[in-house]
Amino acid sequence: MLLTSPVSGDGENQDKMGSPCVSAITAVVLIRAVFSLTQVGLDYIGHHLDVRVKVMDNLLHDGEKHRLEIRMTNKGPFTIITQGWQIYFHSFFMIEPDFLPSSNGHMLENETIKVFHVNGMLFRLEFLPTFGFLRPGISRTINLMADDWAVSKTDIPGNWYVAADKLLPRVLNTTDLDPDPFVEPFVEPNQWKRYKADLYDPFSPSERYERYNTSDLGPEIAKYVVIPSPESLTLTLDGYMTVDSTWVIAASDQLNFEATYLEDKLGLYTSRIPKSSKVIFLELDDTEPGLDHDESYVIRCIPCANIVSIKAKRRAGVFYGVQTLLQLLASQDDGHLDGLVVTDKPRFGYRGLHVDVARNFQTKEDVMRTMEAMAMYKLNKLHLHLSDDEGWRLEIPGLPDLTELGGKRCHDLIETDCILPQLGSGPDTSTRGSGFYTVQDYKDILTRAAKLHIEVIPELAMPSHAHAAIKAMEKRYRHVLKNGNVTDANQYYLTDRNDDSIYLSVQMFNDNAINPCIESTYRFVKHVVRAVKAMHEGINELKIFHFGGNNVPDGAWANSSSCRELFSDYRLNETLQEELAKGYFLNRVSELILLENLKMGGYEDAYILNDMPYLNGTTDVISYQYQNLWEWGRGHWAYMFANSGYAVVLTSVTHLYFDHPYEPDPEERGLYWGTRYTDTYKTFGFMPENLYGNIETKRTGESITIEEVCGMLYERCVNLTKPQNLIGIQGMAWSETILKSEHLDYMAFPRLLALAERAWHKADWETIDNMEKRRKLIDDDWQQFSTALGYRELKRLDDVGVKYRVPPPGAKLDGQTVSMKSIPGLNMQYSEDAKVTWKEYLGPFYVQKGQKLHLRTLSADGQRKSRVVDLVIP
Ligand SMILES: *[C@@H]1O[C@H](CO)[C@@H](O)[C@H](O)[C@H]1NC(C)=O
Ligand SMILES: *[C@@H]1O[C@H](CO)[C@@H](O)[C@H](O)[C@H]1NC(C)=O
Ligand SMILES: *[C@@H]1O[C@H](CO)[C@@H](O)[C@H](O)[C@H]1NC(C)=O
Ligand SMILES: *[C@@H]1O[C@H](CO)[C@@H](O)[C@H](O)[C@H]1NC(C)=O
Ligand SMILES: *[C@@H]1O[C@H](CO)[C@@H](O)[C@H](O)[C@H]1NC(C)=O
Ligand SMILES: *[C@@H]1O[C@H](CO)[C@@H](O)[C@H](O)[C@H]1NC(C)=O
Ligand SMILES: *[C@@H]1O[C@H](CO)[C@@H](O)[C@H](O)[C@H]1NC(C)=O
Repeated sequence: MLLTSPVSGDGENQDKMGSPCVSAITAVVLIRAVFSLTQVGLDYIGHHLDVRVKVMDNLLHDGEKHRLEIRMTNKGPFTIITQGWQIYFHSFFMIEPDFLPSSNGHMLENETIKVFHVNGMLFRLEFLPTFGFLRPGISRTINLMADDWAVSKTDIPGNWYVAADKLLPRVLNTTDLDPDPFVEPFVEPNQWKRYKADLYDPFSPSERYERYNTSDLGPEIAKYVVIPSPESLTLTLDGYMTVDSTWVIAASDQLNFEATYLEDKLGLYTSRIPKSSKVIFLELDDTEPGLDHDESYVIRCIPCANIVSIKAKRRAGVFYGVQTLLQLLASQDDGHLDGLVVTDKPRFGYRGLHVDVARNFQTKEDVMRTMEAMAMYKLNKLHLHLSDDEGWRLEIPGLPDLTELGGKRCHDLIETDCILPQLGSGPDTSTRGSGFYTVQDYKDILTRAAKLHIEVIPELAMPSHAHAAIKAMEKRYRHVLKNGNVTDANQYYLTDRNDDSIYLSVQMFNDNAINPCIESTYRFVKHVVRAVKAMHEGINELKIFHFGGNNVPDGAWANSSSCRELFSDYRLNETLQEELAKGYFLNRVSELILLENLKMGGYEDAYILNDMPYLNGTTDVISYQYQNLWEWGRGHWAYMFANSGYAVVLTSVTHLYFDHPYEPDPEERGLYWGTRYTDTYKTFGFMPENLYGNIETKRTGESITIEEVCGMLYERCVNLTKPQNLIGIQGMAWSETILKSEHLDYMAFPRLLALAERAWHKADWETIDNMEKRRKLIDDDWQQFSTALGYRELKRLDDVGVKYRVPPPGAKLDGQTVSMKSIPGLNMQYSEDAKVTWKEYLGPFYVQKGQKLHLRTLSADGQRKSRVVDLVIP
């Protein structure tokens, strides 16, 4: 075996960390080893080098940096020589310069490794000769410092891999995240707290018990609770009827889809022959009072005539009436339906969900499943984040490189076949790092969306967040040039070759900003906008083109010759320079989009120059608000944009970011840059039209007052003077930590139901200023909502295959009796024998001192389990 060191007996001191001594004979062996590492050897390392990561401390440097310990153990029978191969891994945080090659070549004393920043979140670790060998059974630890903090398992992306020249890279087995994570448990506050002021600890079972502070009133209470709440639901108190298989549906041809949808759900037929009873009528009617709104509807359930009538002005209204009827029918057994009247219309015309398919790809099936569930709760906009640094996911006719290169991530350091692995996607294209929609896939999505009354809003990010696009157009340049036509090759080139600006984006890319000062950029944008518009045509008319636009890195284009040529004042001063280049891009791109008769969407900072909205506002330009961390002082931007004429969609990071964890727990998936956690209750309590009323906590968990944010006279917080410009709200499912279908469901559901509730229905409590009074009313409302959620809606989500998050139970110890709580209606279990057997929780039970219990909740259909939580009886 080539890996076996022929040198024996002298490895003792080299097996210890930091041994500085390398004997001449060892060096010779190492050099030999470099040339002799074979695929078998690299495979051996992949299979047997056990790597574990432990977050050691965030608090020592008060959240400015944190220390990671990486323990490597050779679990195989042969010695591993550590030269001639490298480890590639991902970090959300910049590894400290001390571990990177320093510019002056300075070596730390006792140094045994070096870490190189490749690009984005990809890093390479190399062993120095001082590291020595890794003998069988021996463990070695190395320490790394990284910026910021890491407080949860998903902060350490998996799929680390080993690579060597001319050999196929191999994943390090133990870092494959499924099923046994390689990240050591977080057991101490200095591991799970970000900085000293961090108030959050993982919820104990008793804290969680307190948070489930609604009583379980049983399924009865959920009977007439529709999610989202209708404008009015009145019982007519004239008996009930039973909708069984003898019923039929009657609908005009125009309502063919709505009728078929209802047929499928209820197992009924649509009848062409007029019947006068046992009929569900679906009708379009614009004469009926109360049906003034395009999405409004009226349902009448008339027991004496055995008739259900759903009327609406437009098809969308009929569809929403159908959704309400399905919930009412699901509330009781056997098709029981009381006499009642529902009249309804939405609060906002824009009720959206954003799904990031770029950071990690989400398959067509994922999108389809998500849309079915969106439609159940009357959401009507799907914002697809189709490109970013980490991937381009939509085939664009005429520019095949975008997806052929940009739709794949693999170990190709020069990015000619694929772009670099990111976010733990591993060395090959088998993970969700790779994937894209063909034109046909996309049209399939659009077709289904149109039926479900969902408008698809495509986003292709520019000028920054464009690493994948830039690399793809470089590839295009190279192969078109082979045909000898330079002009042609340069048609869609996205960067200025005479620009040596050095910059780093938020996600640590050094080459992710399209240059605004070259014509090929606008040729590219125009081509893409037109291609996307053409795909939508006749299926799901394109109305909004979202260009992203946020996070332009400081210094991008600072030294661009093209920009200098374009603006005589360029480089006069940095503020002016940014204004010129970014403003020029905004003007050109908005012109281009508006000329196609489209509205333009962008994240709020895309439009900000010198702290002010730059484009003159028009509601054809939509600003997506997100950075409302109150202590950042940007909370008022939403209203500022609305007042200056923009249309505004709230995607407030404090309440609507579904990529953030449900609990402040290291075991919970998600990023947390905006708030440590957002549970369904918090989303439910969001007040879109009382934005400053949502001011409550800082990112630390400390409370913050409206006066601290807005000033004593509220002078820093503009009031909303053009409420009509606030067009809606949207949940955000960014996908950095969404590595498979189940993760998407977990992060989006059930929070999405609370989003739908606030998007469709304005609660009375939203306008109440007195916090205590408001909290009481929210809690009453939440009681109804969570009862309907647990007793009815989660089961319906199970039925459509949505693997929503099952929340772990809370538990309270009273003397020697344990009570458990979860969402009302869900069954819970406990184990007294270390998870070997599980008992159903039927009510408070007796425990003994010193006993260790494990607790879990079951999904509504009993098929899935929550995270298990421990309870030790003192
Ligand atoms: C590592 O993974 C490979 C491929 O899945 C498998 O064949 C091998 O048995 C694993 N090795 C160990 C030591 O677990
Ligand atoms: C109920 O729990 C929530 C947290 O889930 C908390 O914000 C609220 O104040 C609690 N209400 C009462 C009445 O305890
Ligand atoms: C090169 O391509 C450009 C743009 O497509 C075209 O106008 C020009 O005629 C081509 N030149 C030659 C020499 O083929
Ligand atoms: C631009 O060039 C100047 C002079 O070479 C250099 O000092 C500066 O760092 C460069 N700026 C950027 C953002 O690269
Ligand atoms: C830079 O340019 C801006 C915009 O024109 C101007 O407001 C500012 O005063 C200038 N700053 C300096 C230091 O010249
Ligand atoms: C905004 O509009 C005003 C007047 O309507 C005009 O003078 C100004 O140039 C516009 N600004 C931009 C950036 O388009
Ligand atoms: C906003 O409205 C409130 C209440 O009407 C008022 O007290 C406050 O001064 C206003 N703020 C600004 C900045 O005009």
